[in-house]
Amino acid sequence: MAKNRFFNRNVVSIRDFDRDDFSYLFDVTDKIQTLKSKERGEIAKGLILGYIFYEYSTRTRLSFESAMSSIGGRSLGISDVDSSSIMKGESYADTIKTISLYSDVVLIRHPSDGSSRYACEISQKPVINGGSGSEEHPTQAMLDIYTIFKEKKKIDGLSIGIVGDLKYGRTVYSLIYALSNYNVDIHLVSPAVLRIRSESIYDISHKVNMQQHLELSDDLLQKLDIIYVTRIQRERFPDLQEYKKIQGLYTIDENILKKSKPNVSILHPLPRVDEISPSIDNTVNALYFKQAAYGKELRAALLSILLHENPF
Ligand code: CP
Repeated sequence: MAKNRFFNRNVVSIRDFDRDDFSYLFDVTDKIQTLKSKERGEIAKGLILGYIFYEYSTRTRLSFESAMSSIGGRSLGISDVDSSSIMKGESYADTIKTISLYSDVVLIRHPSDGSSRYACEISQKPVINGGSGSEEHPTQAMLDIYTIFKEKKKIDGLSIGIVGDLKYGRTVYSLIYALSNYNVDIHLVSPAVLRIRSESIYDISHKVNMQQHLELSDDLLQKLDIIYVTRIQRERFPDLQEYKKIQGLYTIDENILKKSKPNVSILHPLPRVDEISPSIDNTVNALYFKQAAYGKELRAALLSILLHENPF
């Protein structure tokens, strides 16, 4: 295998990684799935993933735990802040420092932008950002582009629609920064109030073709190879009435599939609420649960190369 590009690094922003890093990570993710369970189970033997989730999670926490277990490591952490000494007034800094004393890598989800970057200054071990405010969710983007690569056998040349809450959805930011390493057309579809933040447009518009749309029109559907759907982030919405106005605006259902390319792939970081009809879950186009499954494999690969210079 090529030289390890990830050993001992922090995974805070997808912007810290480039196309060569992604290629290397994809190769390791492919490789790890070919290992026999005994060999795979030796990689992180005796090592510990420590985590803290200040916000709800199903996939990120469980896929990391499952990934760590599959490479022979263990996980310990705080999934319910109410049960921790934070309730006695312990600071964020002291909490992160303490977790890093008991573990070899630290995974954090926190509602504030910049929370993971700050944690890197405190933690004695590599930090993984498991979602920071509406800023970033870098490992989600890594598994998103891995899913696209596995399914389409390429990323260059694709037309990718990103639909829904582009203002508050942190997966969107990590995804567009990741995609800006490739030769793709990005179509951003959202209501005006949920358009992508202007600084991100500024950051990447010189790197990729990017267009903004208010509607998922028939013309646009005929162009898209991927439709990446996002949930309206109700918890980050300042006004519930405004949220209700746009809830369900772009529901992906059989009608949308009929108007799309036959081989369009539907991705979603999940959880979904009502933006994808369960009636399309069993179509060949619905990739979101496969995407979630790839999350475990990609995170097992990521943990392996963060923790070991030569994991294989
Ligand atoms: N995709 C994702 O981050 O899911 P969870 O919020 O369930 O972790």
